[in-house]
Amino acid sequence: MDELFSPESLVWRDKAREVAQKVVRPKAAHYDRIQEYPWEIRDALAEAGLFGVWIPKEFGGHGGGVLELCLVVEELSRACGGIGVLFAVNALGSFPILLAGTEEQKKRYLPDIASGKRLIAFGLSERGAGSDASGLATRAVEDGDEYVLDGSKKWTTNGGAADIYSIFAVTDPTSASRRISAIIVEKGDPGFEIGRAEDKMGIRAVPVVELHFKGCRVPKDRLLGGRAGMGFKHAMMTLDRARPGVAAQAAGLARGALELATVYAMKRHQFGQSIANFQMIQQMLADMATQVEAARQLVYASARACDAGVPSLTKMAAMAKLFATDAAMRVTTDAVQVFGGYGFMRDYPIEKFMRDAKITQIYEGTNQVQRLVVARNLMKEASGLADLEAYMPLPDHPNTLLDQERAAAEAANPA
Ligand code: CAA
Repeated sequence: MDELFSPESLVWRDKAREVAQKVVRPKAAHYDRIQEYPWEIRDALAEAGLFGVWIPKEFGGHGGGVLELCLVVEELSRACGGIGVLFAVNALGSFPILLAGTEEQKKRYLPDIASGKRLIAFGLSERGAGSDASGLATRAVEDGDEYVLDGSKKWTTNGGAADIYSIFAVTDPTSASRRISAIIVEKGDPGFEIGRAEDKMGIRAVPVVELHFKGCRVPKDRLLGGRAGMGFKHAMMTLDRARPGVAAQAAGLARGALELATVYAMKRHQFGQSIANFQMIQQMLADMATQVEAARQLVYASARACDAGVPSLTKMAAMAKLFATDAAMRVTTDAVQVFGGYGFMRDYPIEKFMRDAKITQIYEGTNQVQRLVVARNLMKEASGLADLEAYMPLPDHPNTLLDQERAAAEAANPA
């Protein structure tokens, strides 16, 4: 499969594999237990240059794209799903700046993100605005040379550890389509506080927190792209490019669980032989492997679609996120099953994979939202097809769809 990637892509994948093997895997259980930010792993990722993978060379990065990001996330997640997202969320936070920031904003923030010196988070969701991402209540009001923010954010991954925050807030409550703007907030801005840290089922190595803005004042030049009202669009464009990363996290998790389950099945003896000899176990492993492979291919295809900027990238990213994360839940659950009673216990690493997998079906858009995005885009594409009669010749007798359409047209416009 290496032949399918450029040598540059493989350099970053291999560096990530090395960090995952040497630094992440030995510490995964520890950070899962203590639920504290693993600064030593951040340092190892920074030292390997991995935070610069998706950032253009002119802003201090390595000039890769979503594909290279996904290859790194997959390798890290194979060892620990929490570390996979700890890394990927910096891409989520920085994509708004990359996609829509002014030149000055890019120069100010991207080099430090690329070097790993400063971490970044993405603040969209609120208590009352999860799937309904446009229903935000956090306000940002202009006051002289500043914006004043009031409100709270929920489930901010990397919050507290991060120095920079891409925050989405309502700047024009009277507008239906231009209500929201993205504003960059920095740690230490007056009135900005880190709130409650969640106690989570999985991805426990990375903090997920509330953010509070209490009359938080930031200079006006923090408005993303210098243009108000574009925030919702920028959030959606960001999520399009970040969802392949969640899919890569899921595919990596699933791959890691499959590898452990295969080794365990070969070592575990029951009825006088290795359980890997039993066809029921072989069937499970084969089905798991097929799902992992299909998920990986959709990750790479959607990442390439994002990097090429093709019109179907929104649909592809949603499909990859949907398929890979549902596959990860099935594969990690089956991996626990292969481990049997031992799999249920924390002594073995496998139950953590199942716990880490669950959130991938929920965040960066629930899989219900992904299906909605896929269906909407399918219909948009279908409405652009040639006229129905030419595209799908219908039987020449009454009561066809075409006759109903003709009758409706005649009724509306009697000749
Ligand atoms: N690219 C560009 N523009 C887009 C777009 C896209 N992919 N999708 C929508 N838009 C634009 C539309 O063109 C439209 O623009 P106009 O007003 O100019 O016509 C506007 O945005 C509104 O679009 P919709 O009517 O489709 O919006 P909607 O309110 O129906 O919402 C939704 C659609 C898909 C449900 C969206 O709200 C959504 O994606 N929800 C899920 C939110 C989400 O993923 N949250 C995750 C938070 S981050 C997180 O989880 C991170 C973490 O912890 C790691």
